[in-house]
Amino acid sequence: MLQIILLYSLFISVANAWQLVREYSGQNFFNGWDFYGSWDNLTQGNVTWVSQSVAASQDLAYVNNNGHAILKVDNTTNVPSGGRRNSIRITSQDTYALGSLWIIDLDHIPYGCSVWPAFWTFGPNWPEDGEIDIIEGINLMSSNQMALHTTSGCTLSSTATQLGTTDVTDCSSAAGCTVTETSNSSYGSNFEGGVWATQFDSSGIFIWFWSRSNVPSSITGATSTSSIDPSSWGTPHANYSSSTCNIEQYFSPQNLVLDITLCGDWAGLSQFYSSTCGNSGPTGNCYQDCVVGPGSPRYDNAYFDISYIRAYSNSTVPTATGTSGSAPATATATTVSSSPAAGASGSASSSTSTSVTPWGTNNAFSPPKCRATQNPARSKRSTPSLARTVMSRVHGVANRAYRTWFF
Ligand SMILES: *[C@@H]1O[C@H](CO)[C@@H](O)[C@H](O)[C@H]1NC(C)=O
Ligand SMILES: *[C@@H]1O[C@H](CO)[C@@H](O)[C@H](O)[C@H]1NC(C)=O
Ligand SMILES: *[C@@H]1O[C@H](CO)[C@@H](O)[C@H](O)[C@H]1NC(C)=O
Ligand SMILES: *[C@@H]1O[C@H](CO)[C@@H](O)[C@H](O)[C@H]1NC(C)=O
Ligand SMILES: *[C@@H]1O[C@H](CO)[C@@H](O)[C@H](O)[C@H]1NC(C)=O
Ligand SMILES: *[C@@H]1O[C@H](CO)[C@@H](O)[C@H](O)[C@H]1NC(C)=O
Repeated sequence: MLQIILLYSLFISVANAWQLVREYSGQNFFNGWDFYGSWDNLTQGNVTWVSQSVAASQDLAYVNNNGHAILKVDNTTNVPSGGRRNSIRITSQDTYALGSLWIIDLDHIPYGCSVWPAFWTFGPNWPEDGEIDIIEGINLMSSNQMALHTTSGCTLSSTATQLGTTDVTDCSSAAGCTVTETSNSSYGSNFEGGVWATQFDSSGIFIWFWSRSNVPSSITGATSTSSIDPSSWGTPHANYSSSTCNIEQYFSPQNLVLDITLCGDWAGLSQFYSSTCGNSGPTGNCYQDCVVGPGSPRYDNAYFDISYIRAYSNSTVPTATGTSGSAPATATATTVSSSPAAGASGSASSSTSTSVTPWGTNNAFSPPKCRATQNPARSKRSTPSLARTVMSRVHGVANRAYRTWFF
């Protein structure tokens, strides 16, 4: 009997333990990313996202003395009218399949008039393969805004249990299904450092945010080799439960992206620019008021300061072999607790957006940061071979990472 209980609790705790598959941190932070190396032809921002060599030579992407990664907008150049300002956009070389969890720990988020940073993910074809916006804001907004972008049929339940405020429920709308963070320290000059965690699996997509003083001990105590257990994190800030969005259907394996653009299709649109940066310059035009001219002090706060990004997977969990009852070294051998995300329960109300504008209120717009240029008519279902290629690449990467970290 005791043995059965032991085995049972072992099974449950293994199921809740997400294994680290990759850490981006310290001197190795920039290993495993591609620099964009072109102007912002995706959101029409007034930046050039420079190559890795330019980023290094201009100190726009580097690891500082604290071992933190800095990604920043150029604040040393006087940009002439008609020119673009240099900035950074990096995309992870690894793709992360359903059954992944990402944690990012930051000390600073870029902000300021015209500044539009994001930490987000996307699949190979847009929008068929989905987009998850984890950290995003513009200009002098004071709260973070989260969103999904999908094809039609995926919605955010209007009765979702979450701490953030739903702005738009239809994930295929121009705005995406947006949730505004209610914490007053989630973005801009109020941000005091903190952590976001995003769970991406078939039960849903769940995003948590904690400002520095509230980060749970399961995260502050985690190391670059330990597993993580989200079951004690409580109600997520954004809850895209699978009850109203079939995550497996709308999302493929995702690449991670960090970028900062200026003006462009959200921060630069006059209605958003004037409401969040009304008095920032003489022309009322984002580009002329902000981008043109000296970089400092205007862009002194336009940088990410990142302690680490960790990626976890539920599929590299070592199986508890035999009947010996000895826990795998990496499993959290603790108490029985409930499933981390019992997403698909209860009211599956197929809600429809009540917003009359695509972006609702409070500047909650968040246009997609991809372009449907890759054969937009092609549905995800009709590209099985591509999906298979991606899946096997993910699998290979996961195995490689697993070896790196655990053997
Ligand atoms: C953006 O520019 C890159 C590099 O020139 C190019 O590969 C890509 O197709 C362009 N994307 C769009 C949407 O124009
Ligand atoms: C700046 O952005 C605006 C809006 O996207 C665009 O119309 C303009 O051509 C851009 N200017 C430069 C120099 O990139
Ligand atoms: C991992 O997540 C995937 C996708 O949500 C799911 O199908 C699978 O059952 C999960 N595996 C474990 C061991 O929890
Ligand atoms: C998400 O909200 C649903 C209700 O729509 C709830 O049943 C579920 O438990 C919530 N998920 C999490 C992880 O809190
Ligand atoms: C956030 O709000 C709390 C309570 O209203 C307040 O104590 C705290 O100082 C605020 N933090 C910031 C950064 O404004
Ligand atoms: C650029 O901004 C950084 C802070 O991000 C600041 O330390 C530096 O002095 C600024 N550069 C100039 C030329 O003012």
